[in-house]
Amino acid sequence: MLAGKRILLIIGGGIAAYKCLDLIRRLKERGAAVTPVMTRAAAQFVTPLSVAALAGEKAYTDLFDLTDEAEMGHIQLSRVADLVVVAPATADLMAKMAGGHADDLATTLLMATDTPVMIVPSMNVRMWERASTQRNLVTLKSDGMHVVGPNEGDMACGEFGPGRMAEPLEIVEAVSGVLADGPLKDKRVLVTSGPTHEPIDPVRYIANRSSGAQGTAIAAALAALGADVVFVTGPADVPPPAGVEVVAVESAAEMLAAVEAALPVEAGVFAAAVADWRVKRESGSKIKKVKGELPTLEFAENPDILAQVSQMKQGRPGLVVGFAAETDDIIDNATAKRKRKGCDWIVANDVSPETGIMGGSENAVHLITRDGVEDWPRMSKDQVARKLAERIAKALA
Ligand code: CTP
Repeated sequence: MLAGKRILLIIGGGIAAYKCLDLIRRLKERGAAVTPVMTRAAAQFVTPLSVAALAGEKAYTDLFDLTDEAEMGHIQLSRVADLVVVAPATADLMAKMAGGHADDLATTLLMATDTPVMIVPSMNVRMWERASTQRNLVTLKSDGMHVVGPNEGDMACGEFGPGRMAEPLEIVEAVSGVLADGPLKDKRVLVTSGPTHEPIDPVRYIANRSSGAQGTAIAAALAALGADVVFVTGPADVPPPAGVEVVAVESAAEMLAAVEAALPVEAGVFAAAVADWRVKRESGSKIKKVKGELPTLEFAENPDILAQVSQMKQGRPGLVVGFAAETDDIIDNATAKRKRKGCDWIVANDVSPETGIMGGSENAVHLITRDGVEDWPRMSKDQVARKLAERIAKALA
């Protein structure tokens, strides 16, 4: 599926560089050609010989290697690829990229390239959380770079947290998404997903049972058809898909702000299980237990994100798809919901506990449009996602 594509793989100097050996194999298995470039520090972790042997091509390391300049100059090298992948993107490399440095072959290529760039960050959790790294991340994203990971977990340095480099197969999936020549290529699509958490006090919140599985599958399916996906997710159980721009939020209010910031988009899919109510006055400190007294929570209505976007006078996405989670009279309730909210389509499903749909891996949905109701057979959430993504692609064609 990557046949005929060329990846310029810039390997940074971090312990995760060893994963690049597998990454090269995986990319090649799928038909891609890989031109490897290594920073000086990368060569301390993996040898240019192993990298070159797996890539089947020379591993470029030095900007001032005259033979290389005679064979292929650095400007030309920066332009040969369909995609530049920087993995591991260390804190130092990210800082250099954000600052526009060009003091070695890797950074010079990154400055000179006119092809899309994907960074795969990897570093110690404190380095990742450092304000400077987060500032650089914002800069690199606003420069249009694709970001994959980092993942959370045990790290080689013995600490735990976000900073682990994404796994080779996740990177391959993200690369495929960016390079997909699918029907949604260059179309920007928004997906909301997961539950929201509505805070009561700093330690307690109100939540719901949404796992985020269906929204995640939809985002992955849209990306696989080539869409540029903005994935606005509440605190979900399943990790976000690779190859999409992830915006993590907690509450409905944060989700609305993230959705507004993501506009304009050509289509919006609102799969999140947004809490209808929030606690009116969130306590700034932990509510203490007082013997014989029960706290009273007063609620306020949350904004209806789907309805607000559907009813926008200006900048409304061309296609707005909502979900209806129902336990009774599914079709009637969902048909009324589509009209009330003003969206184009509603994907309706039965979330009664006996169906096992909420939190499960399967779904049985009805697609409700202006023209009527389609009943889709029970299938996996991945299959529902693919079918929906294909329908969206047709509608946007
Ligand atoms: N939705 C939203 N913002 C909200 C509530 C819901 O964007 N504050 C969206 C959901 O993402 C979904 C659709 O609206 O696409 C329907 O959600 P659902 O919970 O089924 O409907 P409600 O509006 O909550 O209606 P009810 O509780 O009466 O079923």
